[in-house]
Amino acid sequence: MRQVYLGRSGLVVSELCLGTMSFGGRADRDAARAMVDRFMAAGGTFFDTADVYNHGASEELLGTILGKDRDAAVVATKATMPMGDGPNDRSSSRRHLVRALHDSLDRLGTDRVDLYQLHTWDATTPLDETLSTLEDFVRAGKVLHVGVSNFVGWQLERAVRLQEAAGYDRLVSLQPQYSLVERNIELETLPATRENGMGVLAWSPLAAGFLTGKYTRGGDPSGKGRFARFVDDMPDAGWATLDELRAVADEHGTRPATAALAWLRSKPGVVPIVGATRPDHLDVTLAAADLDLSTEAVDRLDEVSEPRLGYPWDFGSIPGRPPRHPAGVSTGAR
Ligand SMILES: NC(=O)c1ccc[n+]([C@@H]2O[C@H](COP(=O)([O-])OP(=O)(O)OC[C@H]3O[C@@H](n4cnc5c(N)ncnc54)[C@H](OP(=O)(O)O)[C@@H]3O)[C@@H](O)[C@H]2O)c1
Repeated sequence: MRQVYLGRSGLVVSELCLGTMSFGGRADRDAARAMVDRFMAAGGTFFDTADVYNHGASEELLGTILGKDRDAAVVATKATMPMGDGPNDRSSSRRHLVRALHDSLDRLGTDRVDLYQLHTWDATTPLDETLSTLEDFVRAGKVLHVGVSNFVGWQLERAVRLQEAAGYDRLVSLQPQYSLVERNIELETLPATRENGMGVLAWSPLAAGFLTGKYTRGGDPSGKGRFARFVDDMPDAGWATLDELRAVADEHGTRPATAALAWLRSKPGVVPIVGATRPDHLDVTLAAADLDLSTEAVDRLDEVSEPRLGYPWDFGSIPGRPPRHPAGVSTGAR
């Protein structure tokens, strides 16, 4: 598996990240250990967890399983979501984050988190309180890099500008939902990550199992998995995307899930966070590390799953100007 830089940071991570949301829940200790072993044997080093996953059990299991391999791994975790009943047992307030980081380090059995992420935007805490707390963690060596999840573009911009003005370490990554059937972030959030040199860690890259192809239009979804209860909500456009994905997978001699992850890998700066409930799921998903889709296939998948732009995104560009790279460099195209 190739290794890539996380955004503009110096942190090197595997180009697939193993999501551990199922650890301590639907995946027991043995299944979780088998997944970690399989992932590392394939060259994977990057793991994502959160304090809230199975109320700490995911972090605890990941820490135990990594054990002496901790230094070979890059561990990302998150805070902000409720970990208790009180008003201070949640949020991105100084009071909560200090406690949350302490508890995460304890459960993970480590002295530092490689990437510490705010799980979601907190409209109840002043952003400067949150960012100065994160900066303190970095200065204390308990957190090596900071990132966020589920932010939109203006929230990213505001956070990075505040960090710059204060001389703090900047956010290195965003963790958004991103897949062939969820591309809304391309409208406004993804451009903000590019402007700021942030890596993108795509959660639910298989739309919680839909893009494996195990669900069919009008078929009985019961017993198939987590996505079963959402099948009826999938719009026609999603089924059309799945049809094209199946065709692309057949042409490349692979499975829809593998092709769906390879499509994400074709996007610059994007690292899919693969989830699994059974170790054998990884046979299909890890194959994506070795699959480069043809340009023609990527174009077809882009087209069939294109998100509907609304105003002002569809207002159009200024005619007669050469394209410019977001970083301000001319692309050279005429
Ligand atoms: N930041 C956030 O707010 C947020 C939110 C959600 C997730 N995440 C992160 O993203 C990670 C991945 O999320 P996700 O689990 O939703 O990802 P996903 O890759 O979209 O879905 C994974 C699920 O698809 C099914 N699946 C995967 N491979 C399969 C295969 N080969 N055959 C059949 N079914 C297969 C399994 O579920 P079934 O067995 O149930 O079908 C598996 O748990 C999480 O572990 C977590 O680290 C972050």
